[in-house]
Amino acid sequence: MNTNVKSELLKRMSAGKDHPVSGQQLAEEYGVSRTAIWKYVKELESEGYEIGSIRKRGYYLIDSPDTILPAAVQQFLQTKQYGRTIRHIESCPSTQMLAHEEAQNGAPDGMVIIADEQTAGKGRLSRPWSSAAGKGIWMSVITRPELTPQQAPQMTLVAAVAIVRAIEELTEVTPTIKWPNDILAGGRKLTGILTELQADPDRVKAIILGIGMNVNQQSQDFPEEIRAIATSLSIEEGQPVNRAKLTAKVLDYLELYVALYVDKGFTPIKLLWESYADSIGKRVRISTLQDTYEATARGISEDGRLEVVLDDGTVRGIYSADIHII
Ligand code: BTN
Repeated sequence: MNTNVKSELLKRMSAGKDHPVSGQQLAEEYGVSRTAIWKYVKELESEGYEIGSIRKRGYYLIDSPDTILPAAVQQFLQTKQYGRTIRHIESCPSTQMLAHEEAQNGAPDGMVIIADEQTAGKGRLSRPWSSAAGKGIWMSVITRPELTPQQAPQMTLVAAVAIVRAIEELTEVTPTIKWPNDILAGGRKLTGILTELQADPDRVKAIILGIGMNVNQQSQDFPEEIRAIATSLSIEEGQPVNRAKLTAKVLDYLELYVALYVDKGFTPIKLLWESYADSIGKRVRISTLQDTYEATARGISEDGRLEVVLDDGTVRGIYSADIHII
């Protein structure tokens, strides 16, 4: 199946009834038969799209379902590489697992594994990640940037900035970032990022960015134990959000910011990240496996650590901890 033609068909049909897309013309442009185009139309209808047609003029889109199938996402993409190969799965234990296998088997830079449902979604520190069917964006992006393994942890911060920018552009929600990888709205968690690495001692082979975005859940869709601390874009926005459009926007910004990081170093990302961070300048409680203490958050360092100032004036850089604003 050629998802290029299919996503192009979707894109053009979105122009509405007054500008139908001619099957003949699209067939000629892509070097396929008119029957092939007709088959794509039928396929899209079976996926839930409502399509109108005008004799001798062509097809137009009446209504779209909320799907994250490859063509649905790709019709909105503006990237070169990211999201150009998408493997969509209805249900799987975790897209991270599949992404690791794909990366080992030579998946291209920017390949996306996306699922409608995860039955064993995993979060940071091996915590479970609730991934209700059809409600969120559960995806793993395989990236292959020219970075050393030491530069890899900053990719979490790159992804956080990309996600925040995408949310800002498509919704009225004003997200903040909680170091290192949580995106919040009104103090509740909207999105989590899990960064995993495949590397040689001196070279990154692949960085797998696991992105979990709560999009169209209502409060009762979250397990009871996280209901008070989780939120979704539709709860915040008061209306459903198009998952395909948002997925594409995240990939657009991700490609842009990964390139910025590789080309210009971490400083531009650090400045962006700090402008969205909720903790900078605030008193925080820091809990690590070893101990818990209080300090004032100052910013992030060039290597992605959270810098905090202790009460005796000492500056400490933190790699991994739970942070609470107090
Ligand atoms: C966290 O905040 O703890 C990180 C959550 C990451 C969840 C995503 S959903 C897609 C990918 N697959 C997983 O199993 N986890 C990540």
